[in-house]
Amino acid sequence: MILVFLGPPGAGKGTQAKMLSEELGFKHISTGDMLREAVKNATPLGLKAKEYMDRGDLVPDDIVIAMVEQVVLKEKKVILDGFPRTIAQATSLDSMLKKHGREVSKVILFEIDDEVIVDRLTGRRICPNCGAVYHLKFSPPKEDQICDICGTKLIQRQDDTEEVIRRRLEVYRRQTAELIDFYKRQNKLISLDAQKSIEELYKDLKKAVEDEY
Ligand code: AP5
Ligand code: ZN
Repeated sequence: MILVFLGPPGAGKGTQAKMLSEELGFKHISTGDMLREAVKNATPLGLKAKEYMDRGDLVPDDIVIAMVEQVVLKEKKVILDGFPRTIAQATSLDSMLKKHGREVSKVILFEIDDEVIVDRLTGRRICPNCGAVYHLKFSPPKEDQICDICGTKLIQRQDDTEEVIRRRLEVYRRQTAELIDFYKRQNKLISLDAQKSIEELYKDLKKAVEDEY
C-alpha cells in the first residue's frame, strides 16, 4: 500500500504520518526530512537544496525524484509525506511504480485555511536531535522548550518565519495544488478536515486508511 499525504505546509502531514506509521507499520518517507538531513550533513545534495529551502521554493524535481526512487521501491507499506509536489514528480512516480507492477493506493488531502497554517507554523518547535515535532500551544513539551524524548533544547525550523511561510503557501498554490485534480481524475483522492485537533484528525485518517484494507 502506497499512501500520498498532500496538503499545504503546516497542515499536519508529518504529525499524522508519524502516528500512523508507528501504529500500522508504514514506512514514513518525508522528502522534507530527508532534505533537511542532507543539509545538516552538508552533503553535495544538501548544499544544492539549501538555498531553495531557505527561500521556501521547491527543490528541483530531478534531485527529489532520484532521492525518493532510492527508497520507495524497497518498501511494501509506505507513506509519502510531501512528495509528489509537482505534476512532473507525480507522473514520474506513477511510471516508476508501474514498471514494478505497483501504483499509488490513495491520496489523503489535508484541507486547512491559511490563517490556521500561519499559527501552526510560527508555533512549531522541533528537536534537532531526534526530529520530534512540538507546538508551543497545541502540542507543548512537558518542560519548556525541551524535547520530552531526548532532553535536547528545541529549535525553530529556518523556514518557519512568517515571510517564508507566505512564500511556501504561494508555491503550494502555484505548483502543488494542481495535484488535487490530477489524483481526483485517478479516483484516488480522500479529503480530510485538517483543522480538527490532532486526535480527531487521526481518527478520521485511520478510518479512511482502514476502509482501504
Ligand atoms: P516539508 O518539510 O515537506 O514542509 P511542508 O510541506 O511545508 O510541511 P511542513 O513540514 O511544514 O508541515 P506538516 O504538514 O508536516 O505539518 P506538521 O505535522 O509539522 O518541506 C520543506 C521544504 O523542503 C520545502 O519548502 C521544499 O523546499 C523542500 N521539499 C520537500 N519536499 C519536496 C519535494 N517533493 N519537491 C521539492 N522540494 C521539496 O504540523 C505543523 C505544526 O502544527 C506542528 O507544530 C504540529 O505540532 C502542529 N499540529 C499538527 N497537527 C495539528 C492539529 N491537528 N492541530 C493543532 N496543531 C497541529
Ligand atoms: Zn528529541
